[in-house]
Amino acid sequence: MSTALDRAAGSTGAAELPPPVARRRTFAIISHPDAGKTTLTEKLLLFGGAIQLAGAVKARGDQRRAHSDWMKVERERGISVATSVMTFDYGDCTFNLLDTPGHEDFSEDTYRTLTAVDSAVMVIDAAKGIEAQTRKLFEVCRLRDVPIITFINKMDREAQDSFELLQEIEETLALEVTPASWPIGMGRQFRGCYDLLRDRLILLERSKGERPDEGEACDGLEDPKLDALLPDHAVAQLREEVEMARGLCPSFEFDRYREGTQTPVYFGSAINNFGVRELLDGIAAFAPPPRPQPAAEREVAASDKKVAGFVFKIQANMDPKHRDRIAFVRLASGHFKRGMKLKQVRTGKQLAIHNPVLFLARDRELAEEAWAGDVIGIPNHGVLHLGDTLTEGEELHFRGLPAFAPELLQKVRPIDPLKAKHLGRALEQLAQEGAARVFKPMIGADWIVGVVGGLQFDVLADRIRTEYDVPVIFEATQYYTARWVEADEPAKLKAFIDRNKANLAEDHEGFPVFMARNAWHLQDGQDGAPDVRFLATREPV
Ligand code: G4P
Repeated sequence: MSTALDRAAGSTGAAELPPPVARRRTFAIISHPDAGKTTLTEKLLLFGGAIQLAGAVKARGDQRRAHSDWMKVERERGISVATSVMTFDYGDCTFNLLDTPGHEDFSEDTYRTLTAVDSAVMVIDAAKGIEAQTRKLFEVCRLRDVPIITFINKMDREAQDSFELLQEIEETLALEVTPASWPIGMGRQFRGCYDLLRDRLILLERSKGERPDEGEACDGLEDPKLDALLPDHAVAQLREEVEMARGLCPSFEFDRYREGTQTPVYFGSAINNFGVRELLDGIAAFAPPPRPQPAAEREVAASDKKVAGFVFKIQANMDPKHRDRIAFVRLASGHFKRGMKLKQVRTGKQLAIHNPVLFLARDRELAEEAWAGDVIGIPNHGVLHLGDTLTEGEELHFRGLPAFAPELLQKVRPIDPLKAKHLGRALEQLAQEGAARVFKPMIGADWIVGVVGGLQFDVLADRIRTEYDVPVIFEATQYYTARWVEADEPAKLKAFIDRNKANLAEDHEGFPVFMARNAWHLQDGQDGAPDVRFLATREPV
């Protein structure tokens, strides 16, 4: 009998893709801190054979920025990149797991990373349900209709009632839920799950090893095997609850999952390796292979022959002696080979990519090629900017990586006034990296720094001091928000700028920005200039 999983596997939409592309699953995990993202990541890598011992990711997580030694190239170049993308094989698939930064301040970095994935796994703590950060990240996924598989973690602890959890997801996120597995008990009484998509009984007691067994194939919930393997009351409860769940929830519909309107839900316990195999099988079977990526000119299909990709993340060298940085490029199409020449569309320059950092090999050595769906890291000295498009020659501009107007603005100055120039350079580089928005008012000598979350100021102060040797002070400003300004007619924009110099600044790329002191000031500025557009986001040029 073919299961839902087999049927979905036959319809992943991968038929028209070259086989190496069809195999790829590029995804991220979204969750609130402490729900178990690190633990689950580690278990996924364990199943994929990418790491041997549980505990490796956690240990590294603490020292992530300082000294990770995953790759030879990292040691040689003194950079830390591998934790940003983790590639592993499992079954017939190659998985690219993109790391989303963990702290609570919603960061643009996370947003941009989510533009580079084709699907997401949402991890929820079974006791806490949907938490603030999960919700924000979910909203970002929803903007792009990213399909989501849900993993309810920590079922080995006292959890909320399973029905209530499903209802909470459905109501809080306005997302249809359908159980992919059903838990048998919870907390100390947690015995395992019944895999509803493959009709298998998966027992916790058999899942303790590094590679838990495949579970017991059952002939539906009435199979007497269940009575033999579980205590009477547990089987009765399972049958009753599944019947109720089937009555209350819609059945799994592959197309609805792919549109991002339905999420299959797995229950598990990452720390016990439990439910991880089912989750991986689910991603392999349901999650999309590389999806088409929107560019201003056209949609770029993963099956296109020519290489095209976009920079979604820049990571600065953590070694202050070197100023090079890694640009992370998501390949949208084509078959990339080391040494290839790619056109940087923004500047029209040809770049020979001789030292791409690739994360394909299981042993994390440099690999020689990459396919649509993969992420390559390109070391450079600030040539590549966030949002840059690279192609084999075509004029393409990928969309969906906007810069956001900052919500918090502060003035920054060096403690030592003689270091003003150094500060300027540091700010420019940090702005290119996307770590902050930096504005230079047209009148005055101050630098204004804008961020989305308050914690970013602390991180920035620390980085400017340690990486650029410039101790700085952040101070309150009169500014409330910033808006990029543009007009169809250059003369109108110029007239506006001339009239409003006292309220205008330039961002790090020289684009004019209106600095508003309060909501009224912003409104007044807009009302006085009907030909000028005030933009809260700006797409890369
Ligand atoms: P995060 O990356 O989402 O922030 O979460 P992380 O994996 O670090 O997990 C947060 C805490 O939850 C950790 O405990 C971890 O061991 C625990 N945890 C993760 N999965 C499970 C699970 O399935 N069951 C139970 N009972 N606990 C789980 P900690 O005490 O904060 O850290 P540690 O001392 O265990 O490393």
